[in-house]
Amino acid sequence: MGTTEPYYRPVADEVAVFEAAYRHRLPVMLKGPTGCGKTRFLEYMAWRLARPLVTVAAHEDMTAADLVGRYLLAPGQTVWHDGPLTLAVRSGAICYIDEIVEARQDTTVVIHPLTDSRRLLPLEKKNEVVAAHADFQLVVSYNPGYQSAVKDLKESTKQRFIGIDFGYPAAEIEAEIVARESGAATSLAAMLVRIGQRSRNLRGQGLEEGASTRMLIHAARLTLAGLGLEPAARAAIVLPLTDDADLREALGAAVAACVG
Ligand SMILES: Nc1ncnc2c1ncn2[C@@H]1O[C@H](COP(=O)(O)OP(=O)(O)OP(=O)(O)O)[C@@H](O)[C@H]1O
Ligand SMILES: [Mg+2]
Repeated sequence: MGTTEPYYRPVADEVAVFEAAYRHRLPVMLKGPTGCGKTRFLEYMAWRLARPLVTVAAHEDMTAADLVGRYLLAPGQTVWHDGPLTLAVRSGAICYIDEIVEARQDTTVVIHPLTDSRRLLPLEKKNEVVAAHADFQLVVSYNPGYQSAVKDLKESTKQRFIGIDFGYPAAEIEAEIVARESGAATSLAAMLVRIGQRSRNLRGQGLEEGASTRMLIHAARLTLAGLGLEPAARAAIVLPLTDDADLREALGAAVAACVG
């Protein structure tokens, strides 16, 4: 567990909501687009609650065994290895499953008995049922933007969680975050935030998502490394966001308009 406080700038009542949920060990779902502070928020909350944080990135090929554990061959025997979820359940950590919808539904259901009043994790292969440590909590993230109907969570999974929404913060707050994270002056940070906001307005016009706070921080860092603002914004924002020539042009125009 880190001893230094992670920098997190609260945006609404998310700290209070999370603390209330944690008091009752209710599972929490952090919802929001990429790069808007979900991971940083949880690092901060884990620090604040003095709990270790175990993070698992969910993916399509993830099996229940990747979460709970498996028998592995050792010389002359097979030895059980707890997976990250099991380790967190036993030790009373906060377990963060990032991008939970990426996992298949038959994987996701292993968390069901853990996330209701039973707080149990069955290790079928091992014939063991682990009762969760009193301090254990499950947190998942979910990006509502790019879910298809097939790749949504089951209703019975969703309805187990307390939801906390993360969006892009208000301009002044986002500029404060960009300045603090990059070391840039507030005026530069504010300009990058305006670029970010314009890019977000292009959503739906072919652009899947606008620039995240993360991208704005990258652009600020490139600028501080000596690049001009336009090349920095192009490299950190425009090129990663899209391959479409028209959209790149529209984004480039937005950058130029903000740089002035
Ligand atoms: N409220 C905030 N306070 C402090 N830093 C923030 C905040 N929001 C965003 N950031 C900055 O933006 C960066 C990206 O945020 P983070 O990694 O938490 O995004 P995320 O929502 O977890 O994205 P992803 O869905 O891609 O994992 C952080 O490293 C941090 O620098
Ligand atoms: Mg994250």
